[in-house]
Amino acid sequence: MVLPEQEDVATTLERVFEAYLKSNFVIRPHFILSGESGTGKSHLISMIAKKHGIEMLEINAASLTKEGVSGNSLSKAMSGLLNIKTSSGIVVFVDEFDKLFTNGAAQGTHEALAGVQNEFLTMLENDSASVFGDYGKYINVNVGKVLFVFAGAFNNEDNLTHERLRELGMRTEFLGRVSLQFSTKKISLESLLGLVEHNILLQEYFKVFKGTSKKKATETIKERISTEYKKNAIGVRVVNQIIHQYFLQIKA
Ligand SMILES: Nc1ncnc2c1ncn2[C@@H]1O[C@H](COP(=O)(O)OP(=O)(O)OP(=O)(O)O)[C@@H](O)[C@H]1O
Ligand SMILES: [Mg+2]
Repeated sequence: MVLPEQEDVATTLERVFEAYLKSNFVIRPHFILSGESGTGKSHLISMIAKKHGIEMLEINAASLTKEGVSGNSLSKAMSGLLNIKTSSGIVVFVDEFDKLFTNGAAQGTHEALAGVQNEFLTMLENDSASVFGDYGKYINVNVGKVLFVFAGAFNNEDNLTHERLRELGMRTEFLGRVSLQFSTKKISLESLLGLVEHNILLQEYFKVFKGTSKKKATETIKERISTEYKKNAIGVRVVNQIIHQYFLQIKA
């Protein structure tokens, strides 16, 4: 399902996937996907990949840095590729990519982060990646058909340009190979309220707590979402959060 605020970006992403698929994975428009937390970055990519039967491997760039400089961590994260048996394309979704350079890291850390960025660059340049296989052996895998998506909130900045990304610390060589940039938009209160009625979690709670008045619960949850909306920094996730709270925390 696509929310009204997601329609534009979803249409563009569909076009990207169309080119990727129809060219038999020769056209690989790697891109940066920015947007506030909870606005549907992961949701849209996995939805579109699934629709076209394309496997997806998710890796988290922020966790790579925590482990330090060594190439090991990216190699380990990428080792998931070994489990995907397919001759077609694979989407590698790199989440929290912005954490590699936008969080005012301390000096030593900066170098470590630049190191990880370089490792991604090597992968984009060589169409091959050294991944950590069984028995601690490194195995070279072909990533020549992989489409890379680099996602992140990027300080919630609007109008991210290549210029700005360079200022934030993204390398020119990197931007040369990941030349596209798309963004998800903030989700309106109206759209969030529209998700309540048929919410799967809500239906499950109704099954568990049979005595609940559905009408009252739905109304109260909607009211709470409206109150929370202004300070909401978790996007669509607020809907499920408030549903949980309604049943488990708040005295109804
Ligand atoms: N159109 C939609 N319909 C239903 N659920 C949605 C929709 N868009 C997003 N969601 C749900 O909202 C939650 C947040 O979306 P998602 O994880 O895609 O956000 P994100 O932009 O990747 O956030 P983050 O930056 O924190 O990773 C998820 O549980 C997702 O399933
Ligand atoms: Mg996400």
